Amino acid sequence: MTIKISAPGKLLLLGDHAVVYDYPCIVTAVDKRLYVEAEITDKKEDEIISPQVKESRFVLESIAHFKEKFKINKSVRITTKGDFSHSVGLGSSSAVTVATYKALNELFRTDLTNKQIFDLSYQVNLEVQGVGSGFDIAAATYGGTLYFLTGGKKIESLPTENLPLVVGYSGIKADTPFYVRKVAEAFRTKKDAMHRLFSQIATLVESAKKEISQKNYSKLGKLMTQNHRLLQELGVSTPKLDEMVDVTIKAGAYGAKLSGAGGGDCMIALVSPEKRKAVEQAIVNAGGEVIVVDNHAEGVRIETTDDQNEIFVVVDHDNNIINYNTRYECHHDKNLIHRATGVVLFNQKGEVLLQKRSRFKDKHPNLYTISASGHVGKGETALECAKRELFEEIGVRTELKFLKQFIAERSTETEMDFLYTGKYEGPFKINETEVEEVRFVPKNEIRNYLPKLAPLAVESFKRLNLI
Ligand code: MEV
Repeated sequence: MTIKISAPGKLLLLGDHAVVYDYPCIVTAVDKRLYVEAEITDKKEDEIISPQVKESRFVLESIAHFKEKFKINKSVRITTKGDFSHSVGLGSSSAVTVATYKALNELFRTDLTNKQIFDLSYQVNLEVQGVGSGFDIAAATYGGTLYFLTGGKKIESLPTENLPLVVGYSGIKADTPFYVRKVAEAFRTKKDAMHRLFSQIATLVESAKKEISQKNYSKLGKLMTQNHRLLQELGVSTPKLDEMVDVTIKAGAYGAKLSGAGGGDCMIALVSPEKRKAVEQAIVNAGGEVIVVDNHAEGVRIETTDDQNEIFVVVDHDNNIINYNTRYECHHDKNLIHRATGVVLFNQKGEVLLQKRSRFKDKHPNLYTISASGHVGKGETALECAKRELFEEIGVRTELKFLKQFIAERSTETEMDFLYTGKYEGPFKINETEVEEVRFVPKNEIRNYLPKLAPLAVESFKRLNLI
């Protein structure tokens, strides 16, 4: 079984550097994601297929820690893919660590909570990188927009939405640990002055927290610009970043600042819709590159293993074939009626076999459904499909009886369903990619499952007079 997980990158909105010294920051997750695929292999060694050497170090450490913690001696293959360019400081190492932990957690069913995934990933990041407050790990884990205190002592989700940001890349890849150490050196010699500066930043962060929640962007922009001025004082900005910040404010942004460790990487500007174009142009004119990303993105998540390019049979209301379309197209267009089948198995006691759909399904993950179901493929009859699904999903071969054909119109798709019944006692061979579990349920108890039933189960059980 292959597990696919993704985790988002991040942008630090306010509180950069201060957050290393027990002051708060605000971070938002961005919709550029890092993907990790994981599977158990029979090889002697773990295998890491990663285009970035830097990332593979984080993967390697995560695997080692995980295996030690749970006393696992099986080998795994981890493959990583990134949505974002690695030169831009959007946080690929934190995303890859969190995604690897989540993937191993799903693969070995170790029931780690998000808080545990955060703690374990933070530990790995500290070991590999030596420094860091962990805000990037929190963004990768929880997603959204977070008020964060060093090491995750406080992680609060802010009630907001995609903030109207323009992101500019300076073209210079910055070395985060270098700048964090540079600030640490200054901290050793000028502790009081540094604390004063960090307190000023923290005050801005507290105000920003309020303004973000109230969507008061003109005030929020001003706070960001003030934060940038303090980062200049700290000595982490560069002439290029300063110029990009200044030209975006001149072009009408509410405010702007560098984002992250400084020394290059990115800056962000908060804009109204009317000024967005002008601000983007100003960044380009100053020699920067506009990075198009949305923020307030979802945290680490399971990605479906269902092939979105699988070909389905599309029919008219009389079941005449009119086209062949992909799974994705059929699931996003109610006009594409596509053939599907369902099987309901009964045992000798007359109990019904319920299937719990796997957590990896693109539609209705973790809901209960009929014994087996699936989509008719090109060149396949409905009966062939029903038999194939029954065997692929739960390892059953048995006689099937045709019961009903019906059109099921749902919120985003329309199916032409062919329903079959059969008799079977067991045993079952569960395909974990498709199915969590199966169980026989007495007919009069089916009703209790109603809130947890997938649409096809509701439609089928109604036709069988079971609900
Ligand atoms: C780096 O992206 C942000 C810093 O605040 C370091 C950290 O919080 O880990 C400079």
